[in-house]
Amino acid sequence: MKIAVLPGDGIGTEIVAEAVKVLGALDLKFEMETALVGGAAYEAYGHPLPEATLKLAKEADAVLFGAVGDWKYDKLERSLRPEQAILGLRKNLGLFANFRPAICYEQLVDASSLKPELVAGLDILIIRELTGDIYFGQPRGRRIATDGHFPGTEEAFDTMRYSRPEIERIAHVAFQAARKRSGRVTSVDKANVLETFQFWKDVVTEVGQQYPDVQLDHMYVDNAAMQLVRAPKKFDVVVTGNIFGDILSDEAAMLTGSIGMLPSASLNSSSQGLYEPSHGSAPDIAGKGIANPLATILSAAMMLRFSLKQPAAADRIEAAVKSVLTQGLRTADIFSAGTRQVNTQEMGAAVVKAL
Ligand code: IPM
Ligand code: MG
Repeated sequence: MKIAVLPGDGIGTEIVAEAVKVLGALDLKFEMETALVGGAAYEAYGHPLPEATLKLAKEADAVLFGAVGDWKYDKLERSLRPEQAILGLRKNLGLFANFRPAICYEQLVDASSLKPELVAGLDILIIRELTGDIYFGQPRGRRIATDGHFPGTEEAFDTMRYSRPEIERIAHVAFQAARKRSGRVTSVDKANVLETFQFWKDVVTEVGQQYPDVQLDHMYVDNAAMQLVRAPKKFDVVVTGNIFGDILSDEAAMLTGSIGMLPSASLNSSSQGLYEPSHGSAPDIAGKGIANPLATILSAAMMLRFSLKQPAAADRIEAAVKSVLTQGLRTADIFSAGTRQVNTQEMGAAVVKAL
């Protein structure tokens, strides 16, 4: 089992270190190799995704990823910015299916900014298409407008597009995931305005006919954003495109108490995967030792389940995380009265002990 470990920037190095400790505490043998990515790789090699890092990731069974990005790189040309590393990995490894489960642990019901009764027992799975949409659509760029409201002035543009096979394969992923859960899929679109998402809705509906046992409904993204904070437990599997999935998964994260709790898995068609917390590099708290490592530790559990085929080890890690929460240990982001605040390393160590 070969794991490429790419900690990245900001809190990435701190949280990945804890997940590596947790993996090391399992009675399994891994081959782990670490490489620079993001701003850290730019500093060392002048590129956020060096050839060697990409090669390592391609050859591994799974990638354990921290986070990339720092405001200090905002002025760099886009192709050199840290975010290009994660986008390049997703594209080059064909990681089209992104799983972002939002589970509200009963111990954290009070950490959510929503009323406890709205989030208690919440367990939704956002499935975000990850290699298409306006994120990757060509053409894109800046130019002088020749039409529109202000011809002759500067404009910028991106292209939202989805092909039939791209929608079909993510729809299959969603329906199959729903079969293992409560059998419900909500497809989120903007079919009332966008051609791309009318097509999305049509194709998802067609694929759905192959899954008569799964209940499919459709929701516009603006309504979905509202329903997520009005009655989040009505959702089970949510499938959507890249940009809507980016936005809705951050929103869903807050239902669980903190984005510091939300793991993710990004898979290609041969179950090779990249595993990362859904949160970013948080440069404002980097180096302070206060980041929550649980999203990364839970991502490592997803890695064991999806790419490394070690479901029992995945279960053990998830149980250990629940156990430390039950013990009342909290990093700053999930702290509430009556619990004990710990730092990043103490949280990692507590999970290892619970294992
Ligand atoms: C995410 C992040 C990335 C995205 C950024 C860092 C490129 O926000 O994984 O949700 O937009 O996909
Ligand atoms: Mg995001």
